[in-house]
Amino acid sequence: MRVLVIGSGGREHALCRALRRGAQKGTHLRLFCAPGNAGIGEEAECVPLSATDVAALADFAERERVGLTIVGGEAPLAAGLADEFARRGLPVAGPRREAARLESSKVFAKDFMLRHKVPTARYRVAASVEEARDILRGGEFGDAGSPVVVKAEGLAAGKGVVVARDAAEAETSVVEMMEGGRVGGEAARRVLLEEALAGREASLLLWTDGRDYRLMPTARDHKRVGEGDTGPNTGGMGAITAPGVLDEETLRRAVVEIVEPTLAGARADGLDFRGVLFVGLMLTDEGLRVLEYNVRFGDPEAQAILVRLQGDLAEIFDAVARGRLGETKVEWSTDASACVVLAARGYPEKPETGARIGGLEEASRVPSVQIFHAGTARAEDGSYLTAGGRVLGVTAAGATLDQALARCYESASHINWDGMHFRRDIGRF
Ligand code: AMP
Ligand code: GLY
Repeated sequence: MRVLVIGSGGREHALCRALRRGAQKGTHLRLFCAPGNAGIGEEAECVPLSATDVAALADFAERERVGLTIVGGEAPLAAGLADEFARRGLPVAGPRREAARLESSKVFAKDFMLRHKVPTARYRVAASVEEARDILRGGEFGDAGSPVVVKAEGLAAGKGVVVARDAAEAETSVVEMMEGGRVGGEAARRVLLEEALAGREASLLLWTDGRDYRLMPTARDHKRVGEGDTGPNTGGMGAITAPGVLDEETLRRAVVEIVEPTLAGARADGLDFRGVLFVGLMLTDEGLRVLEYNVRFGDPEAQAILVRLQGDLAEIFDAVARGRLGETKVEWSTDASACVVLAARGYPEKPETGARIGGLEEASRVPSVQIFHAGTARAEDGSYLTAGGRVLGVTAAGATLDQALARCYESASHINWDGMHFRRDIGRF
């Protein structure tokens, strides 16, 4: 079987590793990754094509007779990769462009939730700074001293959401987004103003083929760069899966109130959703609310989730692509897991690159630890250099969350480079 993974981060490294592991029992797997990274190069043949060069990727898949393509991130999906592959008869596990709008347009997602009665924060859409100002002054989201959330409509690589302390700060954020170039012009043509919710967050991910679905273990990520949830937002400094993230009753409610109405709504709207759906949840005193949809695995949630997968990941994604998930068993080890991200000095604002990474071999000898590369390059002497903000994701499963975390931190203690930093409080919530 020939499989192509699209992307270049820690998430894609975890996907490649899980695909390799699943194929151990006899099937011959030829694995490609476009564009990949230095660590991925150990598991897959890296193909120097951009993840959003849809036509070139489809040409490659045709030429190499790729039997299954798995898309890591949202940008290729928003660029219509699944549509082009489907047009050429190439099996692909990832939603079409129209379905990917559940992530690429926050206005589309909120209107979808409203239409299909999926619980979410109250919101208004503003197409100009003046309109946003009027809404903020109207008092719908509380008085001038109440917190309010400002979101750019489009994809903004983590920079598009501000939880403002009061109306004045919200107004400043609106101006920065719509006029100040804080996010790309197109992404902030419209903004959402949202009721600020309070509670704990959880990430619920699932595979769906448009009809059936299979839940993954619930996860929690840590978005702030600093310990105690301080400092700017990042792509994610760590993630865990553990029974405590969502108790059984809450999970049952999430399925009935959110997962099933979402999938039924997508079908009713004629959205062809095949792939991974990621539901960002807030557990408020009034019940569950959806913060956002993503149409793909999270990074680093994928790393923490996939180390618990038993069985063959290619088989699952193949069933997703071909609409046969109903016949497919998905099994997890019963334990917990954690991923601790090791980042470069300056991340997230201006990460330094080019530092030599030491201690990787000792680190990978810690039992049941897997180290995923997010931003590394190979030096001429074969050693690894840092090449991005998030550099490595040290990941482990364990019988308990404490055990998984202890393995990650023991492994991380062997790794070093000039400027390396990580959070020591992953999973402590
Ligand atoms: P999103 O990209 O929509 O998930 O937003 C990023 C983060 O902003 C979330 O993980 C939450 O921590 C926070 N957030 C988003 N929407 C709200 C809201 N309505 N109330 C409070 N916090 C929010
Ligand atoms: N870790 C959050 C995300 O991938 O969106």
